[in-house]
Amino acid sequence: DTIFVLNGPNLNLLGTREPEIYGSDTLDDIAGMLEDRARELDLEVEVRQSNHEGHLIDWLHEAQADGAKAVLLNAGAFTHTSVALHDAIKAIATPVIEVHLSNPHAREPFRHVSLVGQAAKGTIAGFGGMSYLLALEAAARL
Ligand code: DQA
Repeated sequence: DTIFVLNGPNLNLLGTREPEIYGSDTLDDIAGMLEDRARELDLEVEVRQSNHEGHLIDWLHEAQADGAKAVLLNAGAFTHTSVALHDAIKAIATPVIEVHLSNPHAREPFRHVSLVGQAAKGTIAGFGGMSYLLALEAAARL
């Protein structure tokens, strides 16, 4: 089984982007950790990143079309703004787990609403790169 791991805007800059908030791991580091754990769980991960909302929507549709077991989605700032991503999650039967490195509820008020979270199966946030690993554990058990 395959788990799609979709990452939104600015997450290509992980490692150098506000490391006091997001940590020093790069997205490649996180992808490596996910691949190692996925192997142990007898799963495959397909890790992608885009700064473009439409790509994330296309990839959600693709996850369903490909029969992916689940999607881990860190939509970055689109989390808080995108009705289109909310609708795309609702439009597919594939379970989507919302992931964040930081805990948006402990940050600025504009991060307190998650349109992604209102459509997702569940959310894991606040554990840095480990949020992705915890979400993979959850996806493996769905
Ligand atoms: C984030 C949290 C969002 O509020 C922010 O816009 C991001 C990263 C996180 O992983 O903590 O880009 O999704």
